[in-house]
Amino acid sequence: MNNQLTEKIKELKKQRNALILVHNYQRQEVQDIADFKGDSLELSRKAAATDADVIVFCGVHFMAETASILSPQKKVLLPDLESGCPMADMITREQLIQFKKKNPGATVVTYINSTAEVKAETDICCTSSNAVKVVKSIHNDKIIFCPDRNLGSYVQKVLNKKLILWQGFCPTHMRMLPEYVIEKKRKYPKAVVLVHPECQPETVALADEVLSTTGIMNYVKSSGADEFIIGTENEITFVLRRMYPDKIFHTVSDIALCPNMKKNTLEKVLWTLQDMKNEIRVPENIREKAYKPIKRMLDIF
Ligand code: 13P
Ligand code: SF4
Repeated sequence: MNNQLTEKIKELKKQRNALILVHNYQRQEVQDIADFKGDSLELSRKAAATDADVIVFCGVHFMAETASILSPQKKVLLPDLESGCPMADMITREQLIQFKKKNPGATVVTYINSTAEVKAETDICCTSSNAVKVVKSIHNDKIIFCPDRNLGSYVQKVLNKKLILWQGFCPTHMRMLPEYVIEKKRKYPKAVVLVHPECQPETVALADEVLSTTGIMNYVKSSGADEFIIGTENEITFVLRRMYPDKIFHTVSDIALCPNMKKNTLEKVLWTLQDMKNEIRVPENIREKAYKPIKRMLDIF
């Protein structure tokens, strides 16, 4: 069944001159049809650089939106329009405008997990892999960091710099409780603990390394260790188990799956390509403003 679907997708992809971009949290069968897989930063770079006419973005809404902001001349399609990111919806444009008024003179750093409208009110964007570098590059004592309070707390700790944090969070990463990490470390004392910075500060404090999704995979690739505890969405652990059958991978929590990321399926990718539907487009007045902070980030990091 999957083979048939894959063959049809490949055929249509050629006809449409389409590129399939896939985030690391997507289902395995969707990862298997990717032209390129990666974390948010890598996928943004690919979306900006491709000469394809169509981008099928297997990820969540803000990722497809970012691709469309960077490449407005391309058709960006999202296989399931319901695949949003709850964290991105935890701040609205109006709320950010009010927050800026309360904190005049602050530079606004916005995590890429945000809507185009919020990006349009932003000075510079960041992703999980470059947030520390982005904040470090800003010469202003007053910095608003939104929407992820956990990524913001991690940056604060690394740079020993106080940020004005918006109180958003990722429900999936909030499931990785510090007591679970403590218990796993007790059971598997030799394992290296790798976590995503969207985990809460108490969990991050127990980690050996704090990395983006691709960062976690690259770390395992170049590490001599053979046992790991992985604190991020569980697809990463599943992929690692398949890639390195001789190494051992433990999840921090077995229920840490992102329901939104899992909404894209092979069937939906096929239907999207067949009907050229589910296009993500940002109104030009918002797009122009949202482009600047993303471009500023891509130009520096
Ligand atoms: P990465 O940029 O590390 O892939 O993270 C995106 C994300 O949504 C994590 O929950
Ligand atoms: Fe959003 Fe969390 Fe899902 Fe990432 S894992 S897309 S932050 S809900």
